[in-house]
Amino acid sequence: MRVREFHKNDQNAAYEIWKNGMLVHLKSTWRSWILGQTHVKLLFLILPIIHMVRFDFSESPFYENSSTHLFWLLNTAVPCFFLIWLLIWRSDYRIEGYVKNRPDMLDIQNHHGRRFLVAENKDGEIVGTAVYTTKTKITHFKGDKISENSWEIFSMSVKHTARRKGIGRFLLDEIEKLAKKSKVKCLVLDSTTPNIPGNNLYKKFGFDWELDAYKRRQSFFGARAFFLACNSSVIKFVKEI
Ligand SMILES: CC(C)(COP(=O)(O)OP(=O)(O)OC[C@H]1O[C@@H](n2cnc3c(N)ncnc32)[C@H](O)[C@@H]1OP(=O)(O)O)[C@@H](O)C(=O)NCCC(=O)NCCS
Repeated sequence: MRVREFHKNDQNAAYEIWKNGMLVHLKSTWRSWILGQTHVKLLFLILPIIHMVRFDFSESPFYENSSTHLFWLLNTAVPCFFLIWLLIWRSDYRIEGYVKNRPDMLDIQNHHGRRFLVAENKDGEIVGTAVYTTKTKITHFKGDKISENSWEIFSMSVKHTARRKGIGRFLLDEIEKLAKKSKVKCLVLDSTTPNIPGNNLYKKFGFDWELDAYKRRQSFFGARAFFLACNSSVIKFVKEI
């Protein structure tokens, strides 16, 4: 296995690895999906289920009538299922939206050039991708300003069948080596709470992390705070080198 710079001919293979990586990580297991959700979102998922199960049929205007169950279905079960579906659907939709909003990945050569790295297995097949760039998004960490001389890592993705074999770590190692050569002070990246494999990888690699809670303060009558609390949170990762 080796990590090398992107060549023009890698476009299709690299795009597929990246896209599949982004699309599957949320759905990998129910357990990791649940562990990654915010508490508020889980509460809003559980409340309708409790409400459906504990529905008091004697309160129905059609009690002792065969319409009682229809009443339960239309007034309780359908709205509850709709709410649950909406909460689950939104998290998947956001990832698909993210993938569609990355036109840079359709022309990697022009957008990232040599800063796009691919991991290749012994048969020459591309099994992993990662990009580094001069810091753009993350400016502060734990209240302190981050050095301007930092690199941001993104689009880390490893082919599904090649995971858990150290390729993710290998890509990070390579970026760190290049960063040290270029006298870069810091590596930064952001991830989201449901991405347990990614978050574990960054923590194990020595990144310090912080939940990106600052956005919640910019609330408009609490509405923005509410929607952010229902969504998965961004985690900022920083490693000084
Ligand atoms: C995150 C990702 C790049 C990791 O790649 P990988 O090659 O499987 O990672 P490695 O084999 O180098 O794993 C290194 C460490 O990461 C953690 N890790 C990796 N996969 C994990 C999983 N499924 N569950 C829990 N921890 C995991 C472990 O701590 C692991 O060390 P260990 O195997 O000694 O326990 C890969 O899972 C992936 O492509 N995910 C989808 C795309 C994505 O989420 N990218 C990150 C966007 S921020």
